[in-house]
Amino acid sequence: MSSATAQATANIAFIKYWGNRDNALRLPANGSISMNLDGLHTRTTVSFQRSLPYDELIINGKEIAGPALERVSCVLDLVRELARTGDQAEVVSENNFPAGAGIASSASAFAALALAASRAAGLSLSEPALSRLARQGSGSACRSVPGGFVEWYMGTGDEDCFAASIAPADHWSMVDCIAIISDLHKKVGSTEGHAVAATSPLQAARVVDAPRRLDLCRRAIIDCDFNLLSGIVELDSDMMHAVMMTSTPALHYWMPLTLEIMKAVQNWRQEGLSACYTVDAGPNVHVLCTEQHAPEVETRLRAFSGVRKVLTARPGGAAQLVQER
Ligand code: DP6
Repeated sequence: MSSATAQATANIAFIKYWGNRDNALRLPANGSISMNLDGLHTRTTVSFQRSLPYDELIINGKEIAGPALERVSCVLDLVRELARTGDQAEVVSENNFPAGAGIASSASAFAALALAASRAAGLSLSEPALSRLARQGSGSACRSVPGGFVEWYMGTGDEDCFAASIAPADHWSMVDCIAIISDLHKKVGSTEGHAVAATSPLQAARVVDAPRRLDLCRRAIIDCDFNLLSGIVELDSDMMHAVMMTSTPALHYWMPLTLEIMKAVQNWRQEGLSACYTVDAGPNVHVLCTEQHAPEVETRLRAFSGVRKVLTARPGGAAQLVQER
């Protein structure tokens, strides 16, 4: 038996991934940029065992079967192919963030799985190769492989479609204050959402304009320019939600409180707080702000009735190996 344990953080996209040009390979319609979220991580142990009749998946102490296991097995199959082994694996995974807190766990989960599984199989993959492997489990997971502020290049095919670091975690002391509005499981998940993105007449315009938004966002990060960042991050989030709302079926992830907080954040910026919002495929609002303004932003978010809790996360590092046996 050989086993390895790896840990990877969740990430929040500044420029969003929404829609694939190849759903099976998870080749995205556009490039994206994100920040790893320190302290919100998944830790996964993979052990390949000759005696196992099939792959097993245990998440937070619970044995999981069905589509979630199949998705994990698909990534394990890629690893088995690379390592030329037929052994089945036991996968034991724990998220340190509260289950159902509305924080997507697929990014941290598949980044940790890619690293743990490849090491357990005796492979020593390069960062781009690991990122590509994680991508095939969950698109956004490819961005949780490198550290800090990360860009996922859309590439021309599987080979050059991976993520790389733009700047390390200590480059910019940014804080993501996450206002948790609902911990209900989303009705339509990202995978199904990506599949219908192209039905929106707005998606083509969103995709065509993506290189411009990526350039501005990359520049804002490199120069630590919060003003530039806030405009482009909010525009990009709104553009993704415009696509979601106008796809078939229409996907409405915002709740009234989501919009209330978004508007409040814009007012706070007028008052001089360095804060901006971004919203993923759910109702929770991620408020990005500078370290200096984080305590004030947190206090203000907690004051909304309907905000169940506020999580905070600073820029996080790369996926890392915890143990090998
Ligand atoms: C709205 O990576 O969760 O968070 O590839 O199907 O697992 P799958 O989708 P996923 O999509 C993330 C969508 C998003 C935007 C983003 O993180 O870029």
